Amino acid sequence: MAEITTKRIVLASRPQGRPTAENFRLETAPVAEPADGQVLLKLLYLSLDPYMRGRMSDAKSYAAPVAIGGVMEGGTVGEVIASKHQDFAVGDIVLSHSGWQTYALADGATLRKLDPQAAPVTTALGVLGMPGFTAYAGLLTIGQPKAGETVVVAAASGPVGSTVGQIARLKGARSVGIAGGADKCRALIEEFGFDVAIDHYRPDFAQALREACPSGIDVYFENVGGKVFEAVFPLLNQFARVPVCGLVAQYNSTGDFEGPDRLPLLMRDVLSKSLTIRGFIQRDFSEQRPAFYQEMVNWIAQDKVRYREDIVQGLEQAPEAFIGLLEGRNFGKLIVRLH
Ligand SMILES: NC(=O)c1ccc[n+]([C@@H]2O[C@H](COP(=O)([O-])OP(=O)(O)OC[C@H]3O[C@@H](n4cnc5c(N)ncnc54)[C@H](OP(=O)(O)O)[C@@H]3O)[C@@H](O)[C@H]2O)c1
Repeated sequence: MAEITTKRIVLASRPQGRPTAENFRLETAPVAEPADGQVLLKLLYLSLDPYMRGRMSDAKSYAAPVAIGGVMEGGTVGEVIASKHQDFAVGDIVLSHSGWQTYALADGATLRKLDPQAAPVTTALGVLGMPGFTAYAGLLTIGQPKAGETVVVAAASGPVGSTVGQIARLKGARSVGIAGGADKCRALIEEFGFDVAIDHYRPDFAQALREACPSGIDVYFENVGGKVFEAVFPLLNQFARVPVCGLVAQYNSTGDFEGPDRLPLLMRDVLSKSLTIRGFIQRDFSEQRPAFYQEMVNWIAQDKVRYREDIVQGLEQAPEAFIGLLEGRNFGKLIVRLH
């Protein structure tokens, strides 16, 4: 087999605040033949996700950072082009965690085979993959929405938020989505069936949220933090549940938070309203994955859950697309087509 060269993007330096193009470096490198138990993958799609901002930092976290000079981490869909693993043949399409590159070796034991007939393979990175599972497990296990309740979620046009809103509706709850800009808000209503959509850029955002939740908020699925959480918090009802999934509004923060310390007020309401505020990482619920997959495949087939993908072309575009993800420039699940 002719020698394969991969293009890859490595972490050149750690960002201070907002990442810039200079924090990334494009390289080429030869890829070895697979050893026993390995396969060689031509990577077709790369998922870009907010958690990658955390991997660029060496601050204490739930996962190890990418080393300086290391390939940026990420979920990928690839085609097997050489195999020394008995379960994988040339032509198989697999889910791997190969990072920001165009070819990679992978241990067969770490791969999941995908069936391109069952669903478009990109969905393994979105609605049928990690983000969809995050929405399902976090909302149903911690949020526990009930018929007639009000569920609020921000980053609501993204893969996690749009799925949260749709599952909330399937459970009979009223769903209120928060997104940035008129186009995204229109999609929340027309594509994803939210009851109400609110643009967080509106100057009267907090007032609009209050009016959209006349009976208060029973479940707030936290994706962003910042001013959205500040507007939500006074509206939480007795026994409200808050799955804390992400805080994307503060991922680029350098650690100095503006404004007065509101911790005592927050703790007072946690106590007096009997609030449940629980952070989670989706893998905490990994035993629910088979049930999630079965249910989500059925919901998609019955047009009860819809998804939107935002696909950019070429590995070279990944840094700029990722920087935009942290600022709301994506519209749906952000994916890079690699070939
Ligand atoms: N805990 C876990 O295991 C887990 C797993 C997956 C994802 N997550 C978290 O889930 C959240 C959503 O992830 P995703 O993959 O679905 O991302 P996404 O929605 O595709 O992208 C992030 C979105 O956040 C919004 N945003 C950015 N800055 C904001 C701000 N200052 N205020 C309000 N909204 C802001 C933007 O949407 P707008 O244009 O609408 O503002 C942007 O499009 C993230 O916080 C992520 O870290 C957690």
